[in-house]
Amino acid sequence: MPARETRQASRGWWDRNADDYQREHGGFLGGAVGARFVWGPEGLDEAEARLLGPAGSLAGRAVLEVGAGAAQCARWLAAEGARPVALDLSYRQLQHARGAAAGGGGTAPFPLLQADAAALPFRDGAFDLACSAYGAVPFVADPAAVIREVRRVLRPGGRWVFSVTHPVRWAFPDEPGPEGLSVAASYFDRTPYVEQDEDGRAVYVEHHRTLGDRVRDVVAGGFRLLDLVEPEWPEWHDQEWGGWSPLRGHLIPGTAIFVCEAA
Ligand SMILES: C[S@@+](CC[C@H](N)C(=O)[O-])C[C@H]1O[C@@H](n2cnc3c(N)ncnc32)[C@H](O)[C@@H]1O
Repeated sequence: MPARETRQASRGWWDRNADDYQREHGGFLGGAVGARFVWGPEGLDEAEARLLGPAGSLAGRAVLEVGAGAAQCARWLAAEGARPVALDLSYRQLQHARGAAAGGGGTAPFPLLQADAAALPFRDGAFDLACSAYGAVPFVADPAAVIREVRRVLRPGGRWVFSVTHPVRWAFPDEPGPEGLSVAASYFDRTPYVEQDEDGRAVYVEHHRTLGDRVRDVVAGGFRLLDLVEPEWPEWHDQEWGGWSPLRGHLIPGTAIFVCEAA
């Protein structure tokens, strides 16, 4: 599937669905005040995980958030003293990022940019760190191109930490209940998941990569892989998110977080 078609579908889908998405998940993600940086539906919080660096190390760092959505992560980073830039393909998501979606003016205490993650509008080596919580990477046809671009705009030694749906989930129906526990498709089938409108145009697309594919993309993109974090479902957490649920979360991984360092 051509990258352009995926990009058009994603932009349209997130513009149309940003309001519902933020209504449903915005609170879990930290709300308008952005008190949290959550890596995925398991609720792993950067305040505890410190995958971008130890407490106190973010102050003054230039950080790019890729596929930022309403930029809750960037808000948390700014509160830690970092200098974030939040980038997203969807204008409506970015309106939520500046608190303008409700009709007010709204501002964000850091730059917001509408752009494609595969063509970053920054000079080489502009950032110390880059991060993405389910932003862009699971949705693009060519994630290797995104990773190469992130490498280009990072200084050597800079960290790039991104989370995606755990590749194992591809083989299971996207259902939170017991029906989501039986293998129904091949883990090795890279055919994208596509929803179409009545004219056959793609309106929602997700692209699958196996775990090995993702590791190869990271290494070929010029990174060392420092860690691959598979958050376990915490006992206290009873909130479902689509196909992510306590039932499935206790049995199979739902999120993969790649902790990389620019070589
Ligand atoms: C699941 S949201 C993640 C955002 C935020 N971290 C969250 O958890 O809500 C995915 C985001 O990726 C953005 N996105 C999808 N494709 C993109 C692309 N090619 N370039 C930049 N952003 C993209 C979408 O617009 C959307 O805001």
